[in-house]
Amino acid sequence: MQGQKHILVVDNDAARRHQIETVLAFVGEHFFVFSEDEVDKHLAEIPNILTIILSGNVSAKLQDIIRAHPTCPFIYHDLVDKGAVKGFANIIGELAIPLNYAQLTELVHNSHQYHNKLPSKHKVSGPNPLFRSLVGTSEPMQQVRFLIEQVASTAANVLILGESGTGKEVVARNIHNLSDRNKSPFVPVNCGAIPPDLLESELFGHEKGAFTGAISTRKGRFEMAEGGTLFLDEIGDMPQPMQVKLLRVLQERTFERVGGAKSIKANVRIVAATHQHLEEMIKTNQFREDLYYRLNVFPIETPALRERKEDIPLLLQELISRFSAEQGQSVRFTDKAIESLQEHPWAGNVRELSNLIERMIIMYGEQVVNVGQLPLKYRHLDVDEFQPEYPEELQEREAINELFAGFDYEDEDDEINEASEQAISSGNTVDILPADGLNLKEYLADLEVNLINQALDKNDWVVARSAELLGMRRTTLVEKMRKYSLQKES
Ligand SMILES: Nc1ncnc2c1ncn2[C@@H]1O[C@H](COP(=O)(O)OP(=O)(O)OP(=O)(O)O)[C@@H](O)[C@H]1O
Ligand SMILES: [Mg+2]
Repeated sequence: MQGQKHILVVDNDAARRHQIETVLAFVGEHFFVFSEDEVDKHLAEIPNILTIILSGNVSAKLQDIIRAHPTCPFIYHDLVDKGAVKGFANIIGELAIPLNYAQLTELVHNSHQYHNKLPSKHKVSGPNPLFRSLVGTSEPMQQVRFLIEQVASTAANVLILGESGTGKEVVARNIHNLSDRNKSPFVPVNCGAIPPDLLESELFGHEKGAFTGAISTRKGRFEMAEGGTLFLDEIGDMPQPMQVKLLRVLQERTFERVGGAKSIKANVRIVAATHQHLEEMIKTNQFREDLYYRLNVFPIETPALRERKEDIPLLLQELISRFSAEQGQSVRFTDKAIESLQEHPWAGNVRELSNLIERMIIMYGEQVVNVGQLPLKYRHLDVDEFQPEYPEELQEREAINELFAGFDYEDEDDEINEASEQAISSGNTVDILPADGLNLKEYLADLEVNLINQALDKNDWVVARSAELLGMRRTTLVEKMRKYSLQKES
């Protein structure tokens, strides 16, 4: 693809490098893999770097590379010492162990966003910047928009409540954009993602020498957000001692850097968000009631996606066009597929929808996705409402073929008769029709499972070889293994 971006993997451990390589190849990303020694040489040669993944030991040399490439986002994975990547603004996240698909695609997505937000590429907002990123015409969404408009221009603190992935951050950004603070920064802080002992210095900054490792004076997020909006995400995860300190800032509008004596004025609007039930947390003494009332001046609830299923077609459109603008690839869904998605419970809300679309673009870029192409858990229409990948009739025919497999037919015309004869003479399965009959379908299914198990056992559960032995395509065998829940016993 034109303008294709590449992921660079820098790791001295060959086995781990290979693991990452396998996963990246699976999700269809373009990548290069280097050891630390090779990296200098190649960095200059690869023009379009999406992101660099660092694992193992981040040496001083690698730290210099991170520092020297502020426009390139870095991701780390399985580090010996996470401290080695602290403090770099271009470290955008960590890949979990074991590697997982959803998280990897999210970080890849974030890397694209990082590039898009670089100043040189900064795009002018479209015709309706107001609610550009807040899609939905359903009643609950209209209510959310109404509340945003009401509160944006005031000085009130806002508390956004809603399940994970419902768009709390989108709402927070819209409040900021609509307010008269929009010329100053919107600064997000994820209170749950920052280690408790670093949170204070993260929020309020520190003076040089305030603690081991504080080698220079550093501004905190409150100072960075001066004149603008501070978004305290996952406020429910804020440790109690910090809750006390935050309450003080909200009351007195001043704070001190860690290790500093000087009071600094804070002209900052606080928007907080959480997916937790703060009132429950107050009852169990996990969240301070006084802070709750300070923050909860103006609550906004973001509705779960299952409560506004009519917005799904619009959201699909919006998310597909976002991916297509970022990655140059698109996908289309049939009406039936959209109908099926509207039946889904969406525990992960819009984020889950966005992940699904990204996955469908990877698998079916520029194609049309029907119900049959959706991952199993998103297929909610009756089987006969769409063309199954594997019609029952075909399955039966194949099972019958398998039943007779192993017999050499001399004359095709006589094949069934001869096969039955041989089967009968060898005491095989065909002559065991009980007097009161049997359920042929079930019988054949059992037989099929049995033969598939044998083939898999024989081949050490290597699917490709087993499929060959059964005379079927690998994907068909995978489909059948899923259908019958066949797994290697540990
Ligand atoms: N109404 C919406 N219109 C368009 N996109 C949306 C909408 N709501 C959410 N999204 C998208 O869904 C994703 C998740 O949204 P966001 O991060 O704001 O959710 P969240 O409630 O903060 O989730 P979490 O609790 O997991 O942090 C983002 O990519 C966001 O752009
Ligand atoms: Mg969020």
